[in-house]
Amino acid sequence: MKIIAGNSNLPLAEEISAYLDVPLAESTVRRFADNEVFVEILENMRGEDVFVVQSTSAPANDHLMELLIIIDALRRASARRITAVLPYFGYARQDRKPGPRTPISAKLVANLIEAAGADRVLTLDLHAGQIQGFFDIPTDNLFAAPVFVDDIKSRFDGRELMVVSPDVGGVVRTRALGNRIGADLAIVDKRRERAGESEVMNIIGDVSDRHCLLVDDIVDSGGTLCNAAEALLNNGAQSVSAYITHGVLSGEAVNRVNNSQLEKLLITDTIMPTEAILSSDKFGVIKIAELIGEAMRRTTDENSVSSLFD
Ligand code: R5P
Repeated sequence: MKIIAGNSNLPLAEEISAYLDVPLAESTVRRFADNEVFVEILENMRGEDVFVVQSTSAPANDHLMELLIIIDALRRASARRITAVLPYFGYARQDRKPGPRTPISAKLVANLIEAAGADRVLTLDLHAGQIQGFFDIPTDNLFAAPVFVDDIKSRFDGRELMVVSPDVGGVVRTRALGNRIGADLAIVDKRRERAGESEVMNIIGDVSDRHCLLVDDIVDSGGTLCNAAEALLNNGAQSVSAYITHGVLSGEAVNRVNNSQLEKLLITDTIMPTEAILSSDKFGVIKIAELIGEAMRRTTDENSVSSLFD
């Protein structure tokens, strides 16, 4: 087994490597003066089972291109099997045509990864599970739920919890986490009754006096989350925290969360957390390396990955 890291999240790749006790393969991924990506793998890869760890987080296009070029280099170096490990799969939200003459970019990205030469994909909390079907190669979609459960038990023990999906699309994910911790489910139903009128937030479920945990795959601008937190508190919730797998946190999102009514926002480190996140009391970062590393070990040993979630 060999592990190669792109530049998107080196600390995570190093932690995975430490967990597996497999050093990162020596490689250089750098830029020419005109910003083209250049990759050189400095170890023999012939016949190896190689895992390329790269989140396609911002700058998504650069990180995607790095991933594709690393895979190409490995294929030409006669690696036996190449697994693209995408802790965060960017472009996943573009998984359907929102209107005429628009792309399905998630499918295009899947095509590119396959065309580059990947034999497998390993990722975590895909925006929609059916994106697995965009690939014609085996694709494992891991869930952060087990690491969230451990954190919830240590952080919120003794509180009467309720899990809340911030939109109708996230109900399956939220219910699954609720089942693991024995908590009831509520749903935020966002609706714009008439064009031009502001959105109304209806809460499905009685959240009064409950400690609410919002659950989602992505926090990007923070709008969905902060608005949902406000609506829950207006409906009588005692406190609102959130468990979100991928901390995209673009633009002013960190400030927005810092100034929000959320008690705590827990994210994983699938995307490398910035200094602003690490130094904020509002945020907590949950390590994901062991879960991903264990799935990689099982993949290389040809053991069950799904049993990690039993
Ligand atoms: C949408 O369906 C996703 O699950 C997230 O709820 C969304 O991407 C969050 O975006 P934002 O933080 O910008 O509201």
